[in-house]
Amino acid sequence: MNILAIETSCDETALALIETRSNSESFEYRIIQSLVHSQAELHSAYGGVFPSLAKREHSKNLVPLLHKILFENGNSVVPSVDSKIISDNEFAEKISTFDKEITGQNTDLIASLKDASFLKTIPNIDLIAVTEGPGLEPALWVGINFAKILGILWNVPVIPIDHMEGHVVGSLIDSDKAYGAWQTLKKLPLPSLALLISGGHTELVSVEAYPCLPAGRLRGLPSYSIIGQTKDDAAGEAFDKVARLLELPYPGGPHISKLADEARGSGIISTVKLPRPMLKTADLDFSFSGLKTAVLYAIKNTKDNSGNENNAETAITDKFKTGLAREFEDAVTEVLTTKVSKALEKTDAKSLIIGGGVSANTNIRNALSDICTKYQIPIFMPSRHISGDNALMIAIAAAIHLDHNNDSDSPKSLNNTNIKAQGTKRLM
Ligand code: KG4
Ligand code: ZN
Repeated sequence: MNILAIETSCDETALALIETRSNSESFEYRIIQSLVHSQAELHSAYGGVFPSLAKREHSKNLVPLLHKILFENGNSVVPSVDSKIISDNEFAEKISTFDKEITGQNTDLIASLKDASFLKTIPNIDLIAVTEGPGLEPALWVGINFAKILGILWNVPVIPIDHMEGHVVGSLIDSDKAYGAWQTLKKLPLPSLALLISGGHTELVSVEAYPCLPAGRLRGLPSYSIIGQTKDDAAGEAFDKVARLLELPYPGGPHISKLADEARGSGIISTVKLPRPMLKTADLDFSFSGLKTAVLYAIKNTKDNSGNENNAETAITDKFKTGLAREFEDAVTEVLTTKVSKALEKTDAKSLIIGGGVSANTNIRNALSDICTKYQIPIFMPSRHISGDNALMIAIAAAIHLDHNNDSDSPKSLNNTNIKAQGTKRLM
């Protein structure tokens, strides 16, 4: 079965194509292609993701990315000479009916679809999976509408996938760079604990069921419960906001991390000590907004005390910034590792998963690996390449759902009528 996945929950426009094969003993997949088009540079000017710009960019990027994934691969999904062709009339009519159905909600996307005559040749795709949320609602709708219209044009079922579940799956992908090779998911000892740390979310999730048999064959639907979450800013959001205060570009995580590494390398220690919010509370919740405020005051106080009223900006030295980046990263790392330790003790989890954009952070990865060594459990991390948003994780999550729903590998029981964008407000 060939699965096309679409991910537009934030500022990455992503598509992936995978092929799966499964029987009663094993579930296998191979990656045909996974493409991610980042809009980060555009949003950088706003210091964070600007939802209407994300919507416009997704609308512009999806059709060219689909063309690329279908035709620039030389793969088995490329329409062949005997592929069914949709007539010009049928094509125009289906798009215009859909446009009316969505009440002109996305004119940019509709215009780019109308011009894409390659869509008239039906490719060898059996299922379309799309991220329904959580994420930025205007951005999510572009992907959902794109999935729906492709489903209508090609008569292919569409299924919604939860973005956070995608991040869980991302850590179970064995080799995201081994294109074309058949592979199985990593074997996950259950119950597992997942720490999902992204720009929009910070969650501790107890994973009670997932593919766990030796060949990755699923028994029972995935089952999760959220046992802790942030009360205000997400971890990635805190990195981005603090980066802005330190006048670093968006997305801030990698820039803060680079400065923090430099500080460690040259022995720079911050003159300011930042708080470790909610470190001592018995619950598994987080709070990061206080950290950002503490950084704001640290900068303000340093400027005020510089005695250099006419040129306050210069009062913040590179050394001060570098030290503060390290202190901030250490504070986030300490809070995350302490809460993970508490959660491991509470849940008796047999493995730890980390996922989401912040899971690319080396300091956090190392600290969590040390915790797992202490508790003698394995850690599952996505490769850095797919720790941020991508459609590969969505495609594989869809394959897993399907594997459970339908042993015959047929997606007929699924339909696309009820997909809704599960948006969440992002504080940017
Ligand atoms: O999962 P993701 O790509 O998008 C959302 O679903 O939000 O996460 C993006 C977040 C951004 O806030 C970014 O600053 C953060 O991940 N991030 C990092 C690093 N790389 C990306 N944070 C800390 N250290 C990093 N190396
Ligand atoms: Zn994400």
